[in-house]
Amino acid sequence: METKKISKVDLIFEHIDPREVLTKAYGMTRDEIIDEILESGLKGRGGAGFPTGMKWKLCSEEKEKTKYIICNADEGEPGTFKDREILDRVAYKVYAGMTIAGKAVGAKKGIIYLRGEYKFLLPQLRMQLDGFLKMSNEIGYDFEIDFRLGSGAYICGEESALFESIEGKRGEPRNKPPYPTHSGLFGKPTVVNNVETLVNSVIILKYGSKKYKQMGTMFSTGAKVFSVSGDTPIPGIYELELGMSLLEFVKEFGDGDTKAVQVGGAAGFCVPRKLFASTVIGFEGVPTGGSMKLFNSSRSMYNVLHNYLEFFTEESCGQCTPCRVGCQQLLRGVESVKKRESKSTYLNELVKLADTMKIASKCGLGQSVGNAFKSIVENFREEIIY
Ligand SMILES: Cc1cc2nc3c(=O)[nH]c(=O)nc-3n(C[C@H](O)[C@H](O)[C@H](O)COP(=O)(O)O)c2cc1C
Repeated sequence: METKKISKVDLIFEHIDPREVLTKAYGMTRDEIIDEILESGLKGRGGAGFPTGMKWKLCSEEKEKTKYIICNADEGEPGTFKDREILDRVAYKVYAGMTIAGKAVGAKKGIIYLRGEYKFLLPQLRMQLDGFLKMSNEIGYDFEIDFRLGSGAYICGEESALFESIEGKRGEPRNKPPYPTHSGLFGKPTVVNNVETLVNSVIILKYGSKKYKQMGTMFSTGAKVFSVSGDTPIPGIYELELGMSLLEFVKEFGDGDTKAVQVGGAAGFCVPRKLFASTVIGFEGVPTGGSMKLFNSSRSMYNVLHNYLEFFTEESCGQCTPCRVGCQQLLRGVESVKKRESKSTYLNELVKLADTMKIASKCGLGQSVGNAFKSIVENFREEIIY
C-alpha cells in the first residue's frame, strides 16, 4: 500500500482573505463548485469519510425550496479537540465553507451545532459572524448562519440525532433511509458537514482541486488536523498529510516506548506496535476523525478498554437493544474475566457479541463499539486476563 513520509502542512490555520474565495465562488455556477469539490476527492473529516462533493451533489439535485447546511461542531469523540481549535482560530473559514456549500446546493440557511462545553466560544463566534455576514451580503450572498448548542450527549454528533436535538426532541438517531440529503432537518434536504470538511472546501476553491490532490494519497487526498494526546512529549494539534504509516507518526510523536495507538477515538481502532509499519493513516487503512492517543508501557490496556466501555455504556442512547444491552454486557464481561469470575474463553463470546453489535445496532455508535473492543482484546489479551 502506498505510504507517504510524514509531512506537516499549514492550510487549515493559514490566514486567507475570505472575500477573495467567496467572490470566486460567487462567480461560479452551482455545478462548477460541486465539480471542483468532487474532483478534489475530499472525504468528510467527521469520521465516516463520505465524499463531500457527492453529498453536495445529492442535496443540490433535490427539488425542495428549503434546504439546510449544518456544520457539525459537536466534537464528542474522546481525544478530539481540533474543531474547537479551528473555530477559535479561523471561524471565518467555517462560515465561508457553509456559505459556499449553501450556494452549491441551493440552501439559504446554515446552523452550527456547537458542543455544549464550547459555549465559552459563542460570544467571539457571534461577533466574528456579524462581520462575516456583512461581507458576504456585500458580495451578493443571501445566506444566514445561526448557532444551536448541544447539551453534552455524544450521540447528538450523529447527524440524524443532531436533527432531533435541533428540533427540540430527545437526541436519538433516525432510521436510514431516508438520508439527510433527501430528508434531514425538519424533513428538508440537508447537508451535514464536519467543521474541518467545510474549511477544506474553502482551501480547494482557493487553490484548486489539482493542487489539493497533490497532497495525500489516491484514496485519501489532502491533509488532516490531528489531535495528539496521551503518552507523547508534544501533545497538541497538528496538520499532516494523509497517507503516512503509523510508524512514521509514532517516530514523530511517541516517547520511545509507545506500545499502542488508539486511532480515531473510542470509536476507532487500537493498533499495537507490531502493526505500526503496515498501518496507513487514511481511508485505505485506518481512518480517523483526528484523535490519536498514544499509550506507552506504563498503561494497562485493560484500564483503557474499561474506560472506553464505560464511556459507551454511559453514552448509548438506549433506543436499540443491541447497543444498549451490548455495551453493558461487554463492560460486565471484561470485568468478570478480570476478576476471574468467568473463564478467559468468555472473551471469545464477547467478541461474537461485539460482531453482532456491528451489524445489528441502529447507528454508528453501537456499530463501532466493537472496533476498540476487538482490537484491544485481540492484541492485548494477556493484559485483560491477568
Ligand atoms: C455516535 C456518533 C457521534 C458522532 N459525532 C460526530 C461529531 O462530533 N462531529 C462530526 O463531525 N461527526 C460526528 N459523527 C459523524 C456524523 O454522523 C456525520 O457523518 C458527519 O458529521 C458528516 O460530516 P462529514 O461528511 O463532513 O464528515 C458522529 C457519528 C456517530 C455515529
